[in-house]
Amino acid sequence: MKANIGIIGVGATVSIAHNHALGLQKDDRASIAAVYDLDRERAAAFAQRFAPGAAVCSSPEELFGLVDAVDICTPNFTHADYVVRAAQAGKAIFVEKPLAITLPECERACRAAEQAGVFHMVGFVYRFAPHAQALRQLIRSRFTRIYSISGSYGARRLADPTLPFEWRMDRTLSGGGALDDFGSHLLDLLFFACGVKIKKISCLSTISIPERSPGTGGKQAVENDDSSAFTGVGGGGELVSLLTSRVGMDNIALRVSGDGGLAVLSYDEDHLIYYPKDPLGSYSGERQSLPLPDHSSFQDWFDREMHTFVDGVLGLGPEVCSIADALDIQRALTAAARSAETGAVCTL
Ligand SMILES: NC(=O)c1ccc[n+]([C@@H]2O[C@H](COP(=O)([O-])OP(=O)(O)OC[C@H]3O[C@@H](n4cnc5c(N)ncnc54)[C@H](O)[C@@H]3O)[C@@H](O)[C@H]2O)c1
Repeated sequence: MKANIGIIGVGATVSIAHNHALGLQKDDRASIAAVYDLDRERAAAFAQRFAPGAAVCSSPEELFGLVDAVDICTPNFTHADYVVRAAQAGKAIFVEKPLAITLPECERACRAAEQAGVFHMVGFVYRFAPHAQALRQLIRSRFTRIYSISGSYGARRLADPTLPFEWRMDRTLSGGGALDDFGSHLLDLLFFACGVKIKKISCLSTISIPERSPGTGGKQAVENDDSSAFTGVGGGGELVSLLTSRVGMDNIALRVSGDGGLAVLSYDEDHLIYYPKDPLGSYSGERQSLPLPDHSSFQDWFDREMHTFVDGVLGLGPEVCSIADALDIQRALTAAARSAETGAVCTL
């Protein structure tokens, strides 16, 4: 059986839909059967490039009628509504992170997906990197308690002050800035690799480039954070300290300490360093450089993510970040944003 996939939002800035399409093309169990974008010409060009046989739809409803599953790659403020509509149409759902921009919307999306009983997953692609897999394996095999986690993640594209205003700088279209964009990935990894969910949080945010040249819609003043630093406490008492930035930061870096020792992970350096410790004793003094399972590229991670999505559409029950898991992430990010605004430490 083929999984017929419909992509909504083909891409204008980063275009994550391109990465998805490349992944789906490599899976012979899947076919991109339909595409829909507010910009029809853009959708047609995308179909021409990635799936010449795909229908270029005039509405999401037309797309729902042609596919088994929907892949939502639109700006953040549209996610919840598309999840609800896809769920009501009985379609399996992949939705890009962050789940949505407000908690009530996330809750609405979660209820709709669960009530419909459809397969659903949220796009946290860094789970599919060998780095995350190796860290998870190490934590599961050597640790029974985590004491602290520090980490950082961000990007450099928007460090160019001549880049015009984008939807991701508009609070009503994007929600948070670096906090939601990169913080969501970090929080997913904390849960995926270390089993940690934040319960109490305090956050500070800054905007480093407050004015941009006008983009679509004519806005110029950046409305959400370029960088955020937050400190939290997990459900098991773990202390967590994370820094996110979209104006100059390297790929994911994490330091995890616990009763099994200290693990130092870098996506940029492709390394996982382990300082072993006996859970009932002290550090051994060793420093081990653990091999990653493979040396795959960024696109390979999307290929795996899409393969997992197709597994889900075909009813194979893969382990994924569900919409309910993403709702927990969004609860933590919302509390962080509240903390940045009020200066209070927020409890979830
Ligand atoms: N997993 C990752 O690493 C990663 C990386 C980048 C982006 N993303 C996420 O992917 C999503 C898309 O980001 P992007 O950078 O690819 O966006 P983009 O700006 O490149 O493309 C968005 C597309 O959506 C279309 N669109 C806008 N509103 C629409 C609507 N209501 N209905 C249909 N189409 C609509 C636009 O015309 C455009 O083609 C965002 O949620 C973002 O957070 C994830």
